[in-house]
Amino acid sequence: MNGKNVTVIGLQWGDEGKGKVVDALAGRSAYVARYCGGANAGHTVTVDGERFAVHLIPCGILHDGVMNVVGNGVAFDPATALDEIQALQARGVAISPENLAISLQAHVVMPWHKLQDQLSEQSLGNDKIGTTARGIGPCYSDKANRSSAIRVAELLNPTTLRMKARLVGAIKNKTFAALYNASPMNIDEIIDTYVDLAETLRPYARNTGELLRGAERDGKRILFEGGQGCMLDIDHGTYPFVTSSVVSACGVPAGAGVSPKAVGHVVGIMKAYTTRVGAGPFPTELKNDIGDAIRDAGNEYGTTTGRPRRCGWLDTAVVRYTADLSGVDELALMLLDVLSDLDELKICTAYQVDGKEVREADPTMLAKAECIYETLPGWKQDITGCRTFEELPAAARDYVNRVGELIGRPVGIVSVGPGREATIGHNSAIEGLI
Ligand code: IMP
Repeated sequence: MNGKNVTVIGLQWGDEGKGKVVDALAGRSAYVARYCGGANAGHTVTVDGERFAVHLIPCGILHDGVMNVVGNGVAFDPATALDEIQALQARGVAISPENLAISLQAHVVMPWHKLQDQLSEQSLGNDKIGTTARGIGPCYSDKANRSSAIRVAELLNPTTLRMKARLVGAIKNKTFAALYNASPMNIDEIIDTYVDLAETLRPYARNTGELLRGAERDGKRILFEGGQGCMLDIDHGTYPFVTSSVVSACGVPAGAGVSPKAVGHVVGIMKAYTTRVGAGPFPTELKNDIGDAIRDAGNEYGTTTGRPRRCGWLDTAVVRYTADLSGVDELALMLLDVLSDLDELKICTAYQVDGKEVREADPTMLAKAECIYETLPGWKQDITGCRTFEELPAAARDYVNRVGELIGRPVGIVSVGPGREATIGHNSAIEGLI
């Protein structure tokens, strides 16, 4: 294993099943840290048949003795965080400053960011990005803009918050009225609500970079929990149809406040097929019965927005690219069981672009990429009960092996169902941890 820490990232367009792997590893980690994204993420974890969907709070919250960190790189929505904390507490999950820390340097998603996200998307019509409307892009825009941003540290100082929110809120009202003919927000009401929210969340706020660097010095395991997927990375994804943070493993040091050496063993999570929500290029998309069958079998509807996901064949040109980008040590192939009813399976091995064969996805040319496929036989039987690699039918084993071969990385984990138990270790370096 490459170091003691583990970084779990998505290698496609999100929703790869990171939550299940993070959940399995969380119990063996001292810290679970989020470093990117915000409440646009949605991790679903099934524990003892009970389904938990978390958006902003790290998945480690479902385990005793784990410190969960919302890092500085996260777009932190205090209203959603509090809702989530209270909903988890109502279901018996213990949450206190002993197991949850929120970075003082994280940027706050304010109500105007969510409104701006919606207004901007509406105004774009057919050219819209198809965001989750959680205010993520506008929050990160203000972060880069600096003068209009509010961080958790400022949220916690009522005088600063009032002053800043009045100033920024007035500018947003004027801008939204001019650009979108929008009615003004009641800024004083927003300020009162956020002063109250800040008081409730105050005990959780701290210097999380210092906390994590201390964990590093003490030799404690940190699990970095990625959000979204590398093809949605602001720098390396299918721009502009991306999210607004660095979600690949490249984002870990900056978004958590640790050194690049802390990234550790990188587990790349991928589905046995491909899905995408929102707009943007998707070379292997299936707009036909097979795509519909995959959506039905995989229940491919967004955890955050409920939108039907676009479905398609596995694209190894994409995963080859994202696995290299993030320095992936091993792959976790999720949702293999979803393909069990199909007669045959196609895998995209490369593209034809302008008459040339291209083996590694380049986001700038994806819209004109034509897929080169290889066809493998399906296994046509229920595999949800398989618990070892050898128990999988030969055709399923061949599929897994071929995926690893095409991507050039070992497939260490195969998932055949939503529950923790439906996970097959296949010479994984983290097998002892899951
Ligand atoms: P935003 O992050 O809400 O701005 O959305 C930008 C793009 O990223 C849209 O296509 C969203 O559907 C997509 N996206 C954001 N978060 C997730 C996620 O957790 N899973 C899958 N897609 C996501």
